[in-house]
Amino acid sequence: MKVLSLFCGAGGLDMGFKKAGYDIVWANDIDKYAVKTYQENFGNHVVLGDINTIPLNSLPDFDVLIGGFPCQPFSMMGQEKGFEDTRGTLFFRIAEIINDRIQKGKKPKAVVLENVRTLRTHDKGRTFKRIVSILQDNLGYKVYSTVLNSADFGVPQKRQRMYIVCFANEGADFEFPGKVELKKTLQDELEIDVPDKYFLSDKIIPTILSNGTGGYYSKSEIDLKIARPLCATMMKMHRACQDNYVTQKGRIRRLTPRECARLQGFDDTFKFPKGMSDSQLYKQFGNAVTVNVSEAVADKVKDALIRTGEWR
Ligand SMILES: C[S@@+](CC[C@H](N)C(=O)[O-])C[C@H]1O[C@@H](n2cnc3c(N)ncnc32)[C@H](O)[C@@H]1O
Repeated sequence: MKVLSLFCGAGGLDMGFKKAGYDIVWANDIDKYAVKTYQENFGNHVVLGDINTIPLNSLPDFDVLIGGFPCQPFSMMGQEKGFEDTRGTLFFRIAEIINDRIQKGKKPKAVVLENVRTLRTHDKGRTFKRIVSILQDNLGYKVYSTVLNSADFGVPQKRQRMYIVCFANEGADFEFPGKVELKKTLQDELEIDVPDKYFLSDKIIPTILSNGTGGYYSKSEIDLKIARPLCATMMKMHRACQDNYVTQKGRIRRLTPRECARLQGFDDTFKFPKGMSDSQLYKQFGNAVTVNVSEAVADKVKDALIRTGEWR
């Protein structure tokens, strides 16, 4: 089954689909560092560039479109601008690409999108309603959606994300994957012998451990068994009410990029390109779709396509 991957980042969503037996034929991202990581791990089918300027005729044929489209305009921490923000309009580019395939008589059999949980409630639910209406009424898909938590799929990270799964075939019968028992804790994912730079200085500890204030009040806690959601701006070192800190050898430290990769379901064979900065790696793993969740959804999409006789 040929897959076109939009907003591929370092490839969390792609990794899940690859593991489930799909063939990713083309991928795209605007971030040169993410593309480098993707290329080293998946191959040369990734194209660097702005999806808005990539000619539709240059895209190869594909059966399934996947994309964790940029979520900043829809997240609670952002300005909640939604479709007014240019990044919010990237959903329309996805719709344009699908529509172009429909016009060419090559309607994608399935579409799998991922976004933040708050997409559903953004602008009193209007943004999500519009997205579903475009997929359903304009593009003719049967649409399923739900929120899945990474901690329900074997990784010790609380990460609730919205998954939208669409089928061209009206007869498609799809169900989202069920939970699996969590058998690991954050402590099981820690590296040993971590370089000194990841440990907090005595000077910064009081700031990091202080509770959140105002609208963002939340309790500072370290050594959680299930990690808080990893975020793209982890390099900035948020306070312990928003970020993950652990105690090791009696000292407090932040997570390493490898630990972040593990918490997103990437196994240790996943390569970090030589010279890639921690800052870029934190961003790539903070942005990623958890591989385990992606694989579980991809498996269920595969089952549905097998039932309709469309899997190939
Ligand atoms: C949430 S991340 C996707 C993560 C990815 N799905 C994964 O699982 O690793 C969104 C990605 O969209 C990319 N992006 C933002 N605007 C873009 C554009 N105009 N064209 C192509 N990619 C874009 C960002 O660079 C970022 O990597």
